[in-house]
Amino acid sequence: MIKNITEKIVYVGVDDTDIDLFESQYLVPNGVSYNSYVILDEKVAIMDTVDRRKSDEWMQNLEAVLTDRKPDYLVVQHLEPDHAGTIAKVMERYPEMQVVASDKAVKMMPQFFFETTFEGRTIGVKEGDTLDLGGRKLHFAMAPMVHWPEVMVSYDSTDKVLFSADGFGKFGALSADEPWADEARRYYINICGKYGAPVQALLKKAAGLDIAIICPLHGPVLTENLGYYIGLYDTWSKYEPEEDGTLVAYASIHGNTAEVAHKFADILRAKGAKNVVVRDLSRTDVAKAVEDAYRYSRLVVAAASYDADVFPPMHDFLHHLAIKNFSKRRIGIIENGSWAPTAGRAMRAIIDGFKGVEVAEKMVTIMSRMKPEDVPALETLADQMLA
Ligand code: FEO
Repeated sequence: MIKNITEKIVYVGVDDTDIDLFESQYLVPNGVSYNSYVILDEKVAIMDTVDRRKSDEWMQNLEAVLTDRKPDYLVVQHLEPDHAGTIAKVMERYPEMQVVASDKAVKMMPQFFFETTFEGRTIGVKEGDTLDLGGRKLHFAMAPMVHWPEVMVSYDSTDKVLFSADGFGKFGALSADEPWADEARRYYINICGKYGAPVQALLKKAAGLDIAIICPLHGPVLTENLGYYIGLYDTWSKYEPEEDGTLVAYASIHGNTAEVAHKFADILRAKGAKNVVVRDLSRTDVAKAVEDAYRYSRLVVAAASYDADVFPPMHDFLHHLAIKNFSKRRIGIIENGSWAPTAGRAMRAIIDGFKGVEVAEKMVTIMSRMKPEDVPALETLADQMLA
C-alpha cells in the first residue's frame, strides 16, 4: 500500500494475509502488516524494509514512490527478519545507499546477510545521534530489548513523527477492520511482554518528545488520541492489570475439570464479580489466554493431574506466563485427580516463580468429578479471590 502520512513521509509497507503463523507461533486470522516508510526530503531515507515473503510487492511500492529519485539512506531500526528481510535486496538495487543502524545492529547484520558486503556502506549510530536529511533531522534513541537488543527508534522533529519500531504495533493486516486494543494487547504481551522495564525506559524517553504521529512497524499509523495508546503501554509494561476481572483457565482431559471451571465462574458471577472469562487451554490459542491473564486482575487455574504432573496444556500456559514475567496478580488453584492428585503441586511450583503474586490460601482438590460436597470449597476459594 502507498499512502502519504505527511507531505514528505509516505507509507510503502505491505499486508501479509496468507501467512499461517507469525513468527511460526502466533495465529493471525487477519494477517499482519510489515510497515515501511520513505521520507522524501532533500535526502531520501527508507525507514526499514519488510519480510522477504513480501519483498517484491514492497520493492514495487518503493520504486513507485521514489520515481526517479534514489534513496540516500536505509534506516534499519530492528533487525528481526519480519522487517529486515529485504536489506540485501534493496542494498543491491541501490548501491550508493548507506545503511543507518545502531552499532549493535551493524555488528549483527552480517549474521543474517553474510553474502552481502557491508564495508563502507553502514553508518552506526548511538543514543542522541542525528541524521540530517536536508530539511529535517532524524533523532535516534536506542531501545534495547524492545524487542531485540539492537533496536532503536527515530524521531522526526519537523513532522513530530515517532518511528517506534515494534512498539505500538499490532497483529492484523491494515486491511482488517478491527479495533486496535485486542490485537495490540495480544501482540505486545506475547512479543514484548518479558521486556516491561525496557519499554518503561522507552516511554520515559518518548515523554520528552512532542509527538503528533506514531509510525510503528506493524499495524496502523496512530495519529489521534495518542495518550490512550501510550497509557495502555504504560499499564502493560508495568505488569498491572488493565481491568478488574478474572480469567478462569482450565486444562481438562475428559470434561470433568471443565465442569468445575464453569461452576467456579458461575459462583464468582453470583458473588457479583465482573468480567469473568473462561478459557479451555486445550482449544484456545495460548497467546490469547496469556493476553487475558495480563488483561485481568485475577487468574484461576484448574487442571487435571497427568503423569504425576499437570496436564500439558496447563503446563504450557504457565510456562508462557513465566517467560513473559507475569506478575502482580491474585491467583487461585483448582486441581483434579483420580488417585493421587499432583496438578496443584505442579502448578504451584511454577506459580511460586512469579513475582508479586498473591496465591489464595484455599486450593481446591476434586477427586475425578465435582460433587455437591465440593461446592463449599469452591465458594471459599471464590471468597478469597474476591476479598
Ligand atoms: Fe516485528 Fe521484533 O519484529
